[in-house]
Amino acid sequence: MSTQDTILVTGGMGFIGSNFILTWIKANGAAVLNPTSVVNLDRLTYAGNPANLAALEGNPRYSFTRGDICDAELVASLLREHRPRAIVHFAAESHVDRSITSPEEFIRTNVHGTFVLLEQARAYWNGLSPADKENFRFLHVSTDEVYGTLGPHDPAFSETTPYAPNSPYAASKAGSDHLARAYFHTFHIPVLTTNCSNNYGPYQFPEKLIPLMILNALEGKPLPVYGDGKNVRDWLFVEDHCAAIRAVLERGRPGETYNIGGSSEKANIDVVHTICSLVDEMRPEPGSAPRTRLITYVQDRPGHDRRYAIDATKITRELGWQPAEKFETGLRKTVQWYLENSAWIDSVRTGAYREWIAKNYAERLVL
Ligand code: NAD
Ligand code: TYD
Repeated sequence: MSTQDTILVTGGMGFIGSNFILTWIKANGAAVLNPTSVVNLDRLTYAGNPANLAALEGNPRYSFTRGDICDAELVASLLREHRPRAIVHFAAESHVDRSITSPEEFIRTNVHGTFVLLEQARAYWNGLSPADKENFRFLHVSTDEVYGTLGPHDPAFSETTPYAPNSPYAASKAGSDHLARAYFHTFHIPVLTTNCSNNYGPYQFPEKLIPLMILNALEGKPLPVYGDGKNVRDWLFVEDHCAAIRAVLERGRPGETYNIGGSSEKANIDVVHTICSLVDEMRPEPGSAPRTRLITYVQDRPGHDRRYAIDATKITRELGWQPAEKFETGLRKTVQWYLENSAWIDSVRTGAYREWIAKNYAERLVL
């Protein structure tokens, strides 16, 4: 039996996965004669939110299965039933602070879960025709954090930078990257890996820096900046990341890794200042009190990586991808989105969310 024009997405109810599915359906929307379907496998952890894809309910090109990537039988049955031409693997535990508090789930999902997926993909791929084998893709979505940390004058991470993960999250992603690499090298499954810098945009769970700061600024709560606020991240608008993944899926060379970044390095404190200005402008407070008054320096994250920066030369040169959105315009769109989507915000701030916020910030001394 041949493959179908279907992709299996894991973790599609999360921040990047849901943006990927929405933009995939839109990008392929015009292809009425040859529409690609999406099957979304997601366990719906605290980070997975069905509201992200409410717009696709009833869409014949989309189906959702609630389940765990560590469940080999379930993965095998989805592959048997849907016969996808690609797997796009986003599912992960993704928050560094949570990996410091409770690392075990990171090893289970990120390392073991990726192993289960690769094993099931291998069994499925072995049964395909030679042409389908050649066309099949396993795209493993990873992070720049596997490369460790940079000094202020170090060159940005390239695909040949040695791995040096520092947090349990980064170590678990590094482990999964090594497994993905080994499955290409040993079994010749057409695996591709992408290592991307920090994303921001709609549907990001408000435990991460940008949405947390937007919501706290809106609600007049303290803006907790770790350490001296001078840690640097290279920010990329999520839709640009999704476009890069589509390019790698369509034109990337199996066995290769591609670094994806926004060429947009910012110190955290500068990001927080920009968010304050945008919120002041879009939702002025009575008396125009500036939101910067809420900035509170708190105890640093243990092992906090100082700087990340991505050299995206390879994906630009080989696949013609580059980011479309500038940080300033992307951040403006993001603040606007959070202002307009209070029902979504309420839906993610469950009891479990409130418990996390209480735990993470209660334990941090104000500096
Ligand atoms: P997220 O935490 O928002 O979403 C993760 C999704 O995976 C959730 O929907 C969750 O329910 C699901 N999931 C978790 N464990 C699962 C399991 N065992 N089985 C099935 N589903 C499970 O994460 P995100 O920010 O969307 O990140 C997606 C991927 O991109 C991750 O692999 C992450 O490492 C990588 N990445 C993220 C960033 C970033 O800035 N957010 C940057 C680079 C790479
Ligand atoms: P985060 O969004 O957790 O992403 P990552 O750790 O994967 O880079 O954090 C981005 C940066 O913001 C990081 O340097 C830690 C910092 N940070 C704060 O200063 N305060 C906060 O409350 C959070 C969540 C993060």
